[in-house]
Amino acid sequence: MKVLIVGGGGREHAIAYKVSKSSQVEKIYCAPGNAGIAELAECVPIGAMEFEKLADFAEEKGIDLTVVGMDDPLIGGIVDVFRARGLRVFGPDKKAAILEGSKAFSKDLMKKYHIPTAEYEVFTDAEKALKYLETAKMPIVLKASGPALGKGVLICQNLEEAKAGVKEIMLDKQFGDSGDEMVVEQFLTGREVSVLTFVDGKHIKLMSSAQDHKRAKDGDQGLNTGGMGNFSPTPFYTREVDEFCKKYVYQATVDAMEQEGRPFKGVIFFGLILTEDGPKVLEYNARFGDPEAQVVLPRLENDIIDVFNACIDGTLDQIDLKFSDDACVTVILASDGYPEKYEKGFPISGLEKFRGKEDYFVFHSGTKFGENGEVLTNGGRVLAVTARGKNLKEARAKAYEATEWIGFDNKYMRHDIGKAIDEAGEDVNV
Ligand code: GLY
Repeated sequence: MKVLIVGGGGREHAIAYKVSKSSQVEKIYCAPGNAGIAELAECVPIGAMEFEKLADFAEEKGIDLTVVGMDDPLIGGIVDVFRARGLRVFGPDKKAAILEGSKAFSKDLMKKYHIPTAEYEVFTDAEKALKYLETAKMPIVLKASGPALGKGVLICQNLEEAKAGVKEIMLDKQFGDSGDEMVVEQFLTGREVSVLTFVDGKHIKLMSSAQDHKRAKDGDQGLNTGGMGNFSPTPFYTREVDEFCKKYVYQATVDAMEQEGRPFKGVIFFGLILTEDGPKVLEYNARFGDPEAQVVLPRLENDIIDVFNACIDGTLDQIDLKFSDDACVTVILASDGYPEKYEKGFPISGLEKFRGKEDYFVFHSGTKFGENGEVLTNGGRVLAVTARGKNLKEARAKAYEATEWIGFDNKYMRHDIGKAIDEAGEDVNV
């Protein structure tokens, strides 16, 4: 098989790694890819939003399967373009990707189908939003309804902050058109967990649980980012939580989408919060998480091509999805200043130290080749240094050991990824 992967971050590198392990795959292309993905795939300089060009390329090269890693092309309808041209593609179509593309849609869906989530209101008018906020209970959460690279969510402690938030999202349009509509949501407290799932329109299969670290700084301080580190499985995703979500959340979401005439095929990422009143859905994503993919996919034991095919063909019920009973931890090496202003273009040293080491991975998030073939930093998130261990503590120690192998100017990381594991006591592998 020839496989094309669309995207160029750490998630797509982890997908490429898993695809490269399939005996069915003879050649991998990635558009646009990055300097790390280039070790596994031929990178092609076509942007992820250039749907027709990508489809032309797939036709020209006789691609058997295209896997779309990124949210923006999915939300924009890349799958519809490929399907219309008779090209086989893994991911939700535009009608289904709205699950991530519009927070107002996903909240209304949860309300209609009684899927547990925070109380909310939707506004398209800033004046009305401000009036509502005057009597609302604080703290409160404001979310740009459209996609905003994980950054369009503001937690406001008081009315003054909430007013500034409305200005930022709806009036100043800091997140572009994504702020035309705004969700105002009850603030929930609890531990957040990520559950990635494969879905074939009707059936759903759960991947192993994971836990993100969204804030830029240690101790969950600083701004929201795409994710500064992750671990899998998370001991906080207990059997009790699993049973509750199987009963009220996962299949209920798939059925709701089918009933709405928007059958979902691809990956649904459930962002859950474990509150005192039980688990609730904080958000849905219509793709693998980044960096969730970097800790979950190395633990997947199936041939991923079989799973992609089953999702497309509606035969996921026949797949026995298996994960190894070890653990993975990933630490993001970022450019200092991310998610705000940062510099890029610095040479990266130490990448060769990962070669030939089965338990260590360096997934590239934002890298490119320099003129002389050297690898340079090219983004806010630069590398996802990942390690596997027999349990979370071992994986964490190994991941932090490996962060020391890498050098580049302005290297920044959190030092407390997986610290919560210490509080959890015994490892539980769900
Ligand atoms: N790590 C969170 C996300 O991928 O959206």
